[in-house]
Amino acid sequence: MELYIDTANVKEIKEISDWGVLSGVTTNPTLVAREGRDFLEVIKEICDIVDGPVSAEVISEDMPGMIQEGREKKNWHDNVVIKLPCTPAGIGACSVLEAEGIHCNVTLVFSAAQGFLAASAGATFVSPFVGRLDDSGTDGMQVVEDLAEIFELHGFNTRIIAASIRNPNHITAAALAGAHIATVPYSVIKKAILHPLTDKGLVSFKRDWEAAQQA
Ligand code: E4P
Repeated sequence: MELYIDTANVKEIKEISDWGVLSGVTTNPTLVAREGRDFLEVIKEICDIVDGPVSAEVISEDMPGMIQEGREKKNWHDNVVIKLPCTPAGIGACSVLEAEGIHCNVTLVFSAAQGFLAASAGATFVSPFVGRLDDSGTDGMQVVEDLAEIFELHGFNTRIIAASIRNPNHITAAALAGAHIATVPYSVIKKAILHPLTDKGLVSFKRDWEAAQQA
């Protein structure tokens, strides 16, 4: 499973990218709006930091608008992936854009049936929202598991991005459920690297080392 970061904050992306663990980036209108910066400028900066797929979402709600936006945003950078909502217009736009060789990420997926339709439209990526499903009392990871089985059984090449990740356990559960990618917020990546026993171990290594130097 590959790791993407789910943010439009360039500083956060740079920090985690320096660890050498990032394969891509996802953004959404909320994340971009939070930065208060020009969309194109942010996406270009992100593409300069991470050499992998960078999802940029359309704002249009109708199919012609989504197609036009997709074509425009694809010109921003070769690595841009067009993020489309899992609506009838989004699925239609996905079919058209993918037929033109423009990679799409169908987002806001909350059921395996929606994911199947996105894959049938030729989506390169599909993003089931695990955390938001969990929040509503449904097992979000089950959608990831079902999609992994469906894609394997029926030979779909669509890659599953486990999205709306809320905690480090979601990362391991996504990997075990068969997600190809987990897109993880900065705060969760930072939590995932920390463990109190790692810190405790370091303190005792240092203490023992220093004691031996003085002996
Ligand atoms: C995925 O691409 C979305 O940007 C994201 O994972 C949404 O997650 P949220 O539920 O934390 O907003």
